[in-house]
Amino acid sequence: MAELKNDLFLRALQRLPVPRTPVWIMRQAGRYLPEYREVRGQAGDFMSLCRNPELACEVTLQPLRRFKLDAAILFSDILTVPDAMGLGLYFETGEGPRFRNPVQTAADIRKLYSPDVSGELGYVFDAVSLIRKELAGKVPLIGFAGSPWTVATYMVEGRSSRELPTIRGLAAEDPAALTMLLDKIAVTTVDYLNAQIEAGAQAIMIFDTWGAALELDDYQRFSLANMQTIIDGLTREKGGQRIPVILFTKGAGPMLAEMVGTGCDALGVDWTTDLSTAREYVEDKVALQGNLDPATLRESPEVIRAGVARVLESYGNGPGHVFNLGHGITPDIDPEHLGALVDAVHELSPQYHTD
Ligand code: CP3
Repeated sequence: MAELKNDLFLRALQRLPVPRTPVWIMRQAGRYLPEYREVRGQAGDFMSLCRNPELACEVTLQPLRRFKLDAAILFSDILTVPDAMGLGLYFETGEGPRFRNPVQTAADIRKLYSPDVSGELGYVFDAVSLIRKELAGKVPLIGFAGSPWTVATYMVEGRSSRELPTIRGLAAEDPAALTMLLDKIAVTTVDYLNAQIEAGAQAIMIFDTWGAALELDDYQRFSLANMQTIIDGLTREKGGQRIPVILFTKGAGPMLAEMVGTGCDALGVDWTTDLSTAREYVEDKVALQGNLDPATLRESPEVIRAGVARVLESYGNGPGHVFNLGHGITPDIDPEHLGALVDAVHELSPQYHTD
């Protein structure tokens, strides 16, 4: 395997000194890029793109050709796991993910099987190996999965939902069944992420998009506990290199303080908490990743640069910051605006790393 030429991202996650703040962007491979839309058109639909290792590799590398990014992220989706558990994932154009066979009752949950990930999800690990080969050590590769709670919201609701009525009902009426579901997802996710690491993923991120829909007690019980199970089961070192783990509960706010105890290396922060406050919550025990409001990318390059400056200033001096948005980049963004963001991080961040 080629030697890693840019380790800023891995160093920052471990709070080691760096000459500038590393940067990557959630959903950096995606519809805002015309070259992505072109390849997606070739593949036919989103899942066919995910299932084709050559095309998944191609779209993973596209943003790195345009922008001076410090990490690549596997092109895939958090819903490949329930798809492999037999739920039948499909994407309705313009409407997001859907499942043909949602799980809604204790009986449905009992019947769910834990797939052999090397068979059902082999296409993901093939993509990881190929991406590592094509990256040739340029930057590290991030592997990922959804948190069991967030994945379960889609499995139970059968689609994207803000109110989450069905899974909230299950939590209230049959918490034991919900716990069984979350445990099953967690077990499969551990296998899935360890296989990504085995295939070459150099850091892991867990996306918990819907954890903050729960109040603190329920968050700990239904979201955080299962992320803890995953962290406890992960391979944390490979070939003498630490595999850092980033947890991202969108909208976590003060719950960031609870998340530190999981043994993660870093926490993702969205734009509703400023980084100086987040740094106080976590007492500098872990690194922080974030947190520019994705809507800022709709503004002029000057406004974007000022937004970058504010985020850097909010984190302040010292190591342990990875620059990112507070959530994924949206399809309406002009790619040149992302270029302005990345350039601003390169130009403005060295002053925070002088000692
Ligand atoms: O960040 C990256 O570049 C890596 C790839 C990635 C995708 N999805 C590709 C994708 C990652 C890390 C995800 C995570 C994901 N997927 C999450 C957690 C993060 C978050 O955004 O909160 C969630 C909740 C999903 C589930 C999902 N997948 C939804 C709700 C949708 C529809 C969203 C939309 O904007 O239409 C997807 C589809 C999806 N996943 C797209 C991409 C690039 C758009 C698909 C397309 O080309 O039409």
